[in-house]
Amino acid sequence: MTEIKQNAIELNDISKSYITGEIKVIALDNIKLIVKTGEKLAVLGPSGSGKTTLLNLLGGITNPDLEKGKLRIFHEEIQNYKLKELNNYRKTRIGFIFQFFNLFPTLTALENVIIGCELLLEKRENSINIYKIAKEYLEKVGLGKRLNHYPSQLSGGEQQRVAIARALVKIPFIGKNFLLLLDEPTGNLDSNTSKKIITLIGDLNEKEGITCILVTHDEPLAKLFASRIVHLENGKIINDNGDL
Ligand SMILES: Nc1ncnc2c1ncn2[C@@H]1O[C@H](COP(=O)(O)OP(=O)(O)O)[C@@H](O)[C@H]1O
Ligand SMILES: [Mg+2]
Repeated sequence: MTEIKQNAIELNDISKSYITGEIKVIALDNIKLIVKTGEKLAVLGPSGSGKTTLLNLLGGITNPDLEKGKLRIFHEEIQNYKLKELNNYRKTRIGFIFQFFNLFPTLTALENVIIGCELLLEKRENSINIYKIAKEYLEKVGLGKRLNHYPSQLSGGEQQRVAIARALVKIPFIGKNFLLLLDEPTGNLDSNTSKKIITLIGDLNEKEGITCILVTHDEPLAKLFASRIVHLENGKIINDNGDL
């Protein structure tokens, strides 16, 4: 029997503007987008086109403009969520790989990964060996020998891989209703390591059925990664070609 894919993400008429002094920037302008569960979508666009803003909205880091529009993720409408609801949403649904890593400088690689799912663990009755899982994910990204290093003792590419492991480590706890958001994740990696990471995420997507959204200005990377590519320009989606 073929599985009917549910919509993981539905954006309908979503806009986001920033006001700084007298200047208003419309970073996202009436976006419509549907992403199916298990899809690997790449959003391609030049610098300033609104890519990070789009991921921040999907990841519950910021709210869209309030006057209209719907932002539904795994059947939760999050567009009007307050801080506490957004925090809970992020914890239980989102793995975010930030463009600039956002690691805690005073925590080791292993501790930085553990923190990715520590808050999730509070809710579980059966004790899970979080150290073991965190170590496994650091090994998956090739950092098995850097567990106790601090970010300042790691290269840029290694820090990025810690950030990748920290986002992925939630998968065993959340399973399918997990949204992986990747903001230019391989900018600091050499092309060989980039390919390995993209392959790892592709394998996890296939095995676990997770939904992945990559934003990048790197077209070859988007093609390597994605099952579908959309283009963002000046805050608008200018084409959506469906499946590649
Ligand atoms: N916090 C902010 N305050 C004011 N303007 C912002 C903010 N974040 C982004 N912008 C503006 O919104 C536009 C889109 O930014 P962004 O989403 O970061 O684009 P991209 O990730 O594609 O480079 C840019 O013109 C940027 O200057
Ligand atoms: Mg950006």
